[in-house]
Amino acid sequence: MDTDEITAEIRTEFLDAIAGAEASDDLERLRVAALGKKGRISQLMRGLGAMSELERKRAGPAYNRLKTDIADAIEARRRVLDATALARRLAEQGIDVTLPARPEPTGSLHPVSQVLDEITEIFADMGFAIAEGPDIETDFNNFTALNIPPEHPARQMHDTFYLPEKDDGSRLLLRTHTSPVQIRTMMASPPPHRIVIPGRTYRCDYDMTHTPMFHQIEGLVVDRETHMGHLKGCLIDFARAFFEVADLPLRFRPSYFPFTEPSAEVDIGCSARDGGFRIGKGEDWMEILGCGMVHDRVLENCGLDPAEYQGFAFGMGIDRIAMLKYGIRDLRSFFDSDLRWLRHYGFAALDVPTLGQGLSR
Ligand code: DAH
Repeated sequence: MDTDEITAEIRTEFLDAIAGAEASDDLERLRVAALGKKGRISQLMRGLGAMSELERKRAGPAYNRLKTDIADAIEARRRVLDATALARRLAEQGIDVTLPARPEPTGSLHPVSQVLDEITEIFADMGFAIAEGPDIETDFNNFTALNIPPEHPARQMHDTFYLPEKDDGSRLLLRTHTSPVQIRTMMASPPPHRIVIPGRTYRCDYDMTHTPMFHQIEGLVVDRETHMGHLKGCLIDFARAFFEVADLPLRFRPSYFPFTEPSAEVDIGCSARDGGFRIGKGEDWMEILGCGMVHDRVLENCGLDPAEYQGFAFGMGIDRIAMLKYGIRDLRSFFDSDLRWLRHYGFAALDVPTLGQGLSR
């Protein structure tokens, strides 16, 4: 057989086999058989050395062409096989985009967050801004500036957590109420102030209605010619919107706080008889907050002239009114992180009533 016959035979043999290959394994086997070190083409190439120069000039290019043609054919067939395999996979694993999505586990709002949102929303509608302060406070901001000097008996009632004493004998503390942010606010900028201050507060106490960490929201309004009528109107509107009872009875009962004069505690009308509890109707009263006109001495401690500026303030336990509004009995369960409890008492996000909605509902 001469060179032409040999190359033609090998060409036909391999091109047919390549065209019929059904898997990439088969292709690989053909590649080794033709182009591998011991493959047919490599063997042919090795024969070139023994040829006369004339024969070599004919055979060399012919072998090279054969080699490229087979390599090209393998490559082309591989692309076809890959494309077929991909098409088959896509057909088999087709995604049904009309199927409903698998449900994702959704979280819910803790009752404290929910109630906090409700309260701040109502006050925001009345034009209040939100202010915040640190959990760790100075003795001055938490007590002294609020007219509670070191020997004052109110200090004992606060069951304060103190931090270790510093070299100069002073001690920082975990704030026992949100009232120190009143001081921070009045010291930081001149009136008018119209703010609510939500936050964590701490007292060494633990039973069904007390936890060492709890939440309060404070209110502070300071302006010229602020009077008790403003305080009453503001809190009556708030309580009616929050409890969603348009004619909710409120009672301002004279009380005492060192940082307000006069001071009052606010009760809402309710009925608490025969184990039942209803807000709005009935003969009973339930305390919800403390309030009063900012004491002259507190204004002076913050560099304000009481003849020029007056203010009112109030403070309320967020957890306590969450328990009241949503009928939760044990405060300690708020902070147990029990998922079953959270699923039961949790709220869907983005359901915050505004003042208008609260009153009309
Ligand atoms: N800070 C008081 C407490 O924790 C609550 C309070 C009462 C705050 C009267 C006020 C207020 O701003 O005017 O018991």
